[in-house]
Amino acid sequence: MIEISSLSKRFGKITALNELSLNIKKGELLGIIGPNGAGKTTAIRIISCILHPDHGQVMVGGYNVMKNPLEIKSMIGYLPEEPNLYERFKAYDLLKYFGELYGVPKDRLDTRIEELLELVGMSDRAQYRINTFSKGLRQRIGIARALVHDPEIIIFDEPTMGLDPATAISIREFIGGLKGEKTIILCTHYMDEADSLCDRVAILNQGQILDMGSPGELKSKIHGDLILKINLKDPAQFSKSDFKSIESYSSVENIVLNGKDLDISLNSQKDISDIVNHIGSNLMAVNTKDPTLEDVFIQTVSNIKRI
Ligand SMILES: Nc1ncnc2c1ncn2[C@@H]1O[C@H](COP(=O)(O)OP(=O)(O)OP(=O)(O)O)[C@@H](O)[C@H]1O
Ligand SMILES: [Mg+2]
Repeated sequence: MIEISSLSKRFGKITALNELSLNIKKGELLGIIGPNGAGKTTAIRIISCILHPDHGQVMVGGYNVMKNPLEIKSMIGYLPEEPNLYERFKAYDLLKYFGELYGVPKDRLDTRIEELLELVGMSDRAQYRINTFSKGLRQRIGIARALVHDPEIIIFDEPTMGLDPATAISIREFIGGLKGEKTIILCTHYMDEADSLCDRVAILNQGQILDMGSPGELKSKIHGDLILKINLKDPAQFSKSDFKSIESYSSVENIVLNGKDLDISLNSQKDISDIVNHIGSNLMAVNTKDPTLEDVFIQTVSNIKRI
């Protein structure tokens, strides 16, 4: 459905996308995760025909972003990082305006708007102005606006950023409900969100994909079966020789020091008490857990300090 090949984009001296290639199948929910500035928003702005690429090719539903932007725009619903909603419009009028802009037939538009307001739980706010809405309510209207023309492809850029847990859950459930029916791209910094919703997740860093797979596949690539998480009192006291000693235990697969957190991937539990003893008085807290997508992120993305 979406084919991206060797896509590059620079802003002055900054390389936002560096020969990015990626295919997204029809009906797939693809997550894109990656640190701030990785190129996630740049990639989806190019797919949505808001930004031109420097090099490479992007085909959406058989159309080329450079040659057929109008056809592509009518296929895509895009929720930007910060939806720019017309503040003085009432919710209903905003959806009507965008519905007309996207050519939704007049006889269907009113019903469509009512359905959408119902879907995002905003029916009772239809006649309120956007400038009276909280962040979460704006986000809901932003989602309704993105869906007004019933697009085949929906692109969500951090849809639950800054929302309270209950609102975030309802938006996640809403996205989950579209799964299979629509082709979806979801950019997020919430690893649980990516894990629970996505068919596949791409890890982007410095404009390139570092790894991609189902959440299960990515987690299974983490070295070891469990992670010993040690919180250090003083990371400066954890020396190279401490690292070498811990590395020499046969069950240790990988060690990552991130601030005060020392994550040791293990293939068995047998050396845990010896490792904890070795850390000695520098130990603040300790626990074990199964690898999560957050561990995948930390181990994969190079800007996290590895010893
Ligand atoms: N219009 C622009 N002008 C100059 N630099 C830009 C512009 N848009 C993006 N960039 C730069 O390109 C790089 C990629 O930005 P992008 O917004 O795609 O990252 P991101 O992965 O979406 O990050 P975040 O997680 O913070 O949203 C960053 O270094 C950013 O500062
Ligand atoms: Mg972004």
